[in-house]
Amino acid sequence: MNLAVDDFVYDPFGKEEMRNPLPFYEILREHHPVYYIEAYDTFVLSRFQDVWDFLTVGDNAFVTNEGSVINRADLLKHNDGATSDPPTAPFLGTHLAFGAPVYEQVRQAHTRQLRPGSVRKLEPFVRSLVRGRLDQLLPKGRFDLVHEFGGIISVSTICHLFHIPADQAGELLDTINAVTATDEEGHGFARDPRLQKKMLEFIRPLVAARREDGPDGSWNLVDGMIDLRVEGRELSDLEIAANLTCVLVGGTETLPKVIGHGLWELARDPEQLAEVRDNLEVNAAAAVEEMLRYCGPAQWFGRTARVEVEVAGRVVEPGQRVIYLAQAANRDPREFHDADRFIWNREIPRTLAFGRGQHFCVGVHLARLEARVIVEEFLSAVAEYEIDATEAVRSPSSFQWGYSHLPVVITGVAE
Ligand code: HEM
Repeated sequence: MNLAVDDFVYDPFGKEEMRNPLPFYEILREHHPVYYIEAYDTFVLSRFQDVWDFLTVGDNAFVTNEGSVINRADLLKHNDGATSDPPTAPFLGTHLAFGAPVYEQVRQAHTRQLRPGSVRKLEPFVRSLVRGRLDQLLPKGRFDLVHEFGGIISVSTICHLFHIPADQAGELLDTINAVTATDEEGHGFARDPRLQKKMLEFIRPLVAARREDGPDGSWNLVDGMIDLRVEGRELSDLEIAANLTCVLVGGTETLPKVIGHGLWELARDPEQLAEVRDNLEVNAAAAVEEMLRYCGPAQWFGRTARVEVEVAGRVVEPGQRVIYLAQAANRDPREFHDADRFIWNREIPRTLAFGRGQHFCVGVHLARLEARVIVEEFLSAVAEYEIDATEAVRSPSSFQWGYSHLPVVITGVAE
């Protein structure tokens, strides 16, 4: 690896970068805050403030009609000017690929249940889920913190929201993990149509049944989509399912990796762990914020310019892409003191952990609730634990650099 400043090269899909992107981020932030990759016709942002400003650019100047995670093969194809949104008919694919107003209409239609008031009501459910899972797992003495613990909790919460039977949670989790797995080289999502179809089939029949029963607005996630009209047209069951899979995936994928890694950071530092335990009910929420900053698995998200626009002093032409390096920004020393250290109670006045602007995470409140309850309950039930680092696994991916498996060994349960 040559990280010398003069002949520095960064490629999010490079082998060294995927093994450990952090040294690259340091150089990017210091010496190439707006780094242009000619092969992908893409600008790369790494400083917190630049990302913050970039994500506030509105008016459809940037769109995600190429996806917010773009495969390498697609990046290699350069656009000749602005890209257009996909058609809204005869089939409306995911709204994430549209600019305003379609994107906003669909987002508004189904996200009421994810607002703070509705999410607060889920706390007793989530808490009993976490306790039940710990009752099952702790007697084993060793289990996978990411898949068996956090993964099952997040997918079971999603099943609850979607009225998917609880006994399908494991199968749904495996399906989502397979759908979001990258190809062998980590150059992009494998996009196997059979798996996509399988994922849609967890939702589609439930939408059909609800339509039959008559939506009354009490199940906003689905009712809102049945009532929605896009350009005067109601959506089919399959279109609704296709537009809701982002909640299925977003709600399942990230949280377990953040929490698994975060609990590992605490296990590594007994002093910090003791401080968090000292007043768990209060401290868990703060520790979670630092986990979100320090342990976020998603490395980058992209946008495609629709018009000429200036970003961090550089002119971006229509059709060119900008990607923001979320974890480079999260460790920017201009924003965070001692940024490369996990400090459970650090000041975090601004966060990019859930993105910002138009595509701000719809699950932010649910994610914070689940994470806090998991940390509280895990640390209440477990007196001592360690992570078996020899079997910690990060799957190869340019986009994700998070742990997909983290075996925890329980060395003491609470009295
Ligand atoms: C620790 C957990 C989570 C983290 C760190 C996280 C982070 C993020 C980030 C950074 C984005 C913005 C991506 C971009 O800029 O393109 C995002 C979008 C999204 N998240 Fe989350 N998320 C989490 C949990 C959840 C949960 C629990 C749900 C659903 C219940 C969810 C659903 C979504 C959806 C649907 C989007 C796409 C929004 C859009 O493009 O309009 N996420 N998330």
